[in-house]
Amino acid sequence: MTIIAPSILSANFARLGSDIKKVQMAGADWLHIDVMDGHFVPNITIGPQVLADIRKTTDLFFDVHLMIQHPENYITDFARAGADLITVHAEATNHLNRLIAMIKQAGCKAGVSLNPATPAVMLENIIAEVDLVLLMTVNPGFGGQSFIPAVLPKISTVKTMLDQHNKAAYLEVDGGINDQTAPEVIKAGANVLVAGSYVFHHENPELAIKTLKNF
Ligand code: DX5
Ligand code: ZN
Repeated sequence: MTIIAPSILSANFARLGSDIKKVQMAGADWLHIDVMDGHFVPNITIGPQVLADIRKTTDLFFDVHLMIQHPENYITDFARAGADLITVHAEATNHLNRLIAMIKQAGCKAGVSLNPATPAVMLENIIAEVDLVLLMTVNPGFGGQSFIPAVLPKISTVKTMLDQHNKAAYLEVDGGINDQTAPEVIKAGANVLVAGSYVFHHENPELAIKTLKNF
């Protein structure tokens, strides 16, 4: 069964709590939380305090996507604030193995993410250690961008790598996921779909989530 993780980047932050309730009621499996620092990506979003506040309003699984430089400095803060899973970018650290261990040490599941132009081979020596691989299907930074189809073969490649070395790990995709692109990423092997604008801007979020789940 495909897991659907609406991204709060497309929520209205003036009414974040009720927007989260809305997608929870609509059938969201996880909540995807995009953390951006204006350095790793050209946009700034939220920090651990917002996470801690929304943690009090929902029991949804918090899938925290760190798009920040020096992620090692913030793992403890996000874990304490209530993250269930923390994903870091392979491009954001020189010490990926240590960082993955640090996330687990903090009591969270650990994910690793690759930007569209980063090859799957980057995962070769870490894939057995992670709980999730997140393949970006847009250049990270903003919601509402168009899906990059050139990432599709990489999804299939990583699916094969996971089948060989880590069957239990999730394969998540993020960026431009909607009713047109979801069938393709699922066919390629993805089993967790992040969807920001498609779910939050849909007139019927329940139908949006059902549509994505039922491909
Ligand atoms: C992009 C973020 C995504 C974003 C997806 O940098 O990591 O999670 O919110 O938004 P959509 O689904 O609108 O492309
Ligand atoms: Zn994301």
